[in-house]
Amino acid sequence: MGRQIAMSAALSGYATIVQDISSDGLEFAEAELESWVAKQIGKNKLTVDAAGAALNRLSFAQDLDRAAADADFVIEAATERLDIKRSIFKCLGTVAPAHAILATNSSTMGSSMVAEASGRADRVCNMHFFNPALVMKCVEVVRHESTSDATVNTVMALASRLGKEPVLIKREIPGFIANRLMGAVQREALALAGAGIASITDIDTTARTALGHPMGPFELMDLVGLDVIDFIARANFAQTGTETDAPNERVSALVAEGKLGRKSGIGFYDYAQCH
Ligand code: 3HC
Repeated sequence: MGRQIAMSAALSGYATIVQDISSDGLEFAEAELESWVAKQIGKNKLTVDAAGAALNRLSFAQDLDRAAADADFVIEAATERLDIKRSIFKCLGTVAPAHAILATNSSTMGSSMVAEASGRADRVCNMHFFNPALVMKCVEVVRHESTSDATVNTVMALASRLGKEPVLIKREIPGFIANRLMGAVQREALALAGAGIASITDIDTTARTALGHPMGPFELMDLVGLDVIDFIARANFAQTGTETDAPNERVSALVAEGKLGRKSGIGFYDYAQCH
């Protein structure tokens, strides 16, 4: 998601550095964004000049120390592992300018888990974007006990300047708002399919045609990635212990088979054949 968040910032006029420890990851990010920009130009959604200006505001770096050295604002979107996030926040706390706000895109870890490591807990919060980040309007801004009002106000204002519609979550709760709502729909969809009441295709069709959802719950799980869905359930279940939050066996089995959704070409649907 990091590359699309970065592009949103570049399109809004901010000089933005995409940092990743993997050079392959950076190459992939650059290629995807260039291709997205070309399609936007083709659809007359972006002028050649605006696209060029946005791409010029983007740079790519492997070294976090150097990337963060002049940053006013950092949005961390690393893999959902607490040890990795803590070490990133520890590093950012040392190398980023003292005024810089450090936000995490995590959907499963409240920023209180990384705030202390940064040494500037008052300037840390969650800024949670949604897939695909260049398209989805919602940004969940989640404060923890020590997040200052000034930080919250700046993060909300920045999200608005990125063309998003930020919502404020006043205290940390597993799943925030969106993933709790999404989880409820997915649970019910998985239960209906598991009981043989209807096919996944018909359940998806119902969500689209009866409820006006842009995609059905199985299509959405495939878009987000079944590994991510499984990980979110495990993380939430570990925090709440509530049976309804437990990971779903069918999703876990697909993940174990390497069927992760769109990114692996197959999940609930087979993208080689169907899409
Ligand atoms: N990356 C960037 N842009 C994309 C994209 C992608 N992967 N997929 C689609 N788009 C863009 C298209 O370029 C198009 O842009 P345009 O309007 O400027 O031309 C626009 O989205 C619409 O795309 P399409 O016309 O091809 O297709 P749809 O109208 O079906 O829209 C969709 C695709 C936006 C993905 C829509 O189906 C949708 O909103 N689905 C629900 C997505 C959702 O619920 N996301 C939240 C997931 S939960 C999450 O992220 C939380 C995390 O913690 C797990």
